[in-house]
Amino acid sequence: MSGTMSNFFSAIRPNGNNNNGNNLLSVPSPSKVNRAFSSSSTFLATTSLLGKVAVVTGSSRSIGAAIAKCLGENGASVVVNYVNDANAAEEVVQAIRSQGKGGAIAVKADTSNLEGGQHLIDETMKTFGRIDILVLNAGIMGSKTLSEVDEPFFDSHFDINVKSPLFMAKAVAPLLPPNSGRIIFFSSSLTDASTVTPNALCYLATKGAIEQISRVLAKDLGTRGITVNTISPGPVDTPMFREGKPQNVLDSIAKQNPSRRLGEPEDIAPIVGFLASQAAQWINGQNIRVNGGFVV
Ligand SMILES: NC(=O)c1ccc[n+]([C@@H]2O[C@H](COP(=O)([O-])OP(=O)(O)OC[C@H]3O[C@@H](n4cnc5c(N)ncnc54)[C@H](OP(=O)(O)O)[C@@H]3O)[C@@H](O)[C@H]2O)c1
Repeated sequence: MSGTMSNFFSAIRPNGNNNNGNNLLSVPSPSKVNRAFSSSSTFLATTSLLGKVAVVTGSSRSIGAAIAKCLGENGASVVVNYVNDANAAEEVVQAIRSQGKGGAIAVKADTSNLEGGQHLIDETMKTFGRIDILVLNAGIMGSKTLSEVDEPFFDSHFDINVKSPLFMAKAVAPLLPPNSGRIIFFSSSLTDASTVTPNALCYLATKGAIEQISRVLAKDLGTRGITVNTISPGPVDTPMFREGKPQNVLDSIAKQNPSRRLGEPEDIAPIVGFLASQAAQWINGQNIRVNGGFVV
């Protein structure tokens, strides 16, 4: 080892002294680093969501429903949001209540406009009196190339995929508890894929925007110990993904995954459950691609 390197290692060794006999770096004590896994606070305890309240936009079916159920299974009380399908939302609520951990309610609210987002927040506060976890999952994915795109199409995508999540985050941020509040945005693994197709123009523009919003808010709200992250799924077998695609196209996309299948909503939900927990306190400002290796 060169003299410079050996100095470096002795400098960072806990209690290692530099040539002046002083510590160069302040190394935290092991008890501080391992606090999440101390005997009084096991890993399981730090992944529990007991006592927390979560709002999941667009959670009557598909990825949002799987997330709502996962959070409920981990102990959270969950607000299940829908626009059209009250029965589907009620089924998710019943599934969560049957776990016997946290409570659950369904709230009809159109989060493509700011009033709908605020209504969802108000109903949550009225019922549970707090919000710990905000999952901004609701979104739309239309298909238009540059020559086809028009202003209403562009606006509809930005309204629900960008504007509403941003303003819901703004409204909820002051309510989130310091050192445990969570905001989780949704993007797509396609923002990083060279297989992107021309008709994904507006959809991916919104997802690029949300990734940047998430990064910036992580620095902002991170000062209060609130974490802000993005989940970016690959292709997941949901009505949104299937719409307009013939079976041979779906099969061909599935084959591009190392596992030779499309993702399922249940492949996405557990990472949201983990990010929402205290165990993930040190994960902030990250974009986590959950795609089975579809995009690496
Ligand atoms: N599926 C994929 O392959 C994939 C890949 C990457 C990223 N994503 C992202 O993952 C998220 C969920 O996608 P998904 O495939 O699960 O979608 P989905 O199958 O279309 O489900 C959408 C959910 O959102 C609700 N919803 C729709 N419009 C709403 C609105 N204006 N306000 C409130 N809720 C609304 C729907 O409720 P109702 O049924 O009541 O209308 C439904 O519960 C989206 O952000 C999407 O961009 C999906």
